[in-house]
Amino acid sequence: MMELQFKRHRRLRQSANMRALVRETVLHKEDFIYPLFIVEGDNIKNEVSSMPGVFQLSMDRLKEEMDEIVKLGLKSVILFGVPVEKDAEGTGAYHNHGIVQQATRFIKGQYPDIVVVADTCLCEYTDHGHCGVIEGNKVLNDPSLDLLAKTAVSQAEAGADIIAPSNMMDGFVAAIRRGLDEAGFIDVPIMSYAVKYSSSFYGPFRDAADSTPQFGDRKTYQMDPANRLEALREAQSDMEEGADFLIVKPALSYLDIIRDVRNEFNAPVVAYNVSGEYSMVKAAALNGWIDEKAVVMEKLTSMKRAGADLIITYFAKDAARWLSE
Ligand code: PBG
Repeated sequence: MMELQFKRHRRLRQSANMRALVRETVLHKEDFIYPLFIVEGDNIKNEVSSMPGVFQLSMDRLKEEMDEIVKLGLKSVILFGVPVEKDAEGTGAYHNHGIVQQATRFIKGQYPDIVVVADTCLCEYTDHGHCGVIEGNKVLNDPSLDLLAKTAVSQAEAGADIIAPSNMMDGFVAAIRRGLDEAGFIDVPIMSYAVKYSSSFYGPFRDAADSTPQFGDRKTYQMDPANRLEALREAQSDMEEGADFLIVKPALSYLDIIRDVRNEFNAPVVAYNVSGEYSMVKAAALNGWIDEKAVVMEKLTSMKRAGADLIITYFAKDAARWLSE
């Protein structure tokens, strides 16, 4: 009888320690950036109904949250502001005492080592809910750039360590880089939402941030989920304009894009594991349909394996806890 020729891959899977020796992708607490939603008002800690375990917090409740974050060993947060007052130009976004600016000052004052990432967008601050200024039903590109640059500078003045523009206007990295440099913030990096799809997975976030567009959708500025080459064009112009990090968003349905961006560009790649991706897992876990810990760790590992260096995720606290067990 002819000898069967084949490879014995199972040799390297025989025991937990053998598997650990050959493991290619390992998660660390340092990989995670935890999103926080800061609201105006006193003594508010509202659970977002579509995001169990995620809260809107007022400034006076931020300390307890930050203490927990630090205790868990997380190193970085990304801040979203939910103001009471909104207007057509989103002026609350670049107000010196705006909600993100205040939260940034507080965190940098009390927890100087925590890396504060400021999300730079207008949609939480505009009464129409779009990410730029509008004329009729059109979202205008160039007039939005000045407002974004102003927002970024006010966030840097408040002490933000990283500026993360998410509004997908063309030229936003160039405009923000110039604004920061002119204001003296040459050392503040830009983490660009370079590749941001017009995704249905943002629904729960819009509940949390109260940023649902009041008319139309974001398809003239966010990308078509069907496109892959366009992602490389977006990332390339952001690199040319001076981005220091590249975000791909969402993460789970876009692992191929994370890999493309990782292969093509030499900058840290950040996967944004978005709200809808969180809510689906939470809902299934609350129903007892899946093993939450195992599923979350598998998901986060897959993002890193795809090429992400960092992950913005609502699971950061859970994952940090599980990594310590
Ligand atoms: C703001 C912004 C959005 C998210 C992050 N920044 C929403 C949107 O573009 O509508 C979504 C994050 C998430 O779903 O977790 N432009």
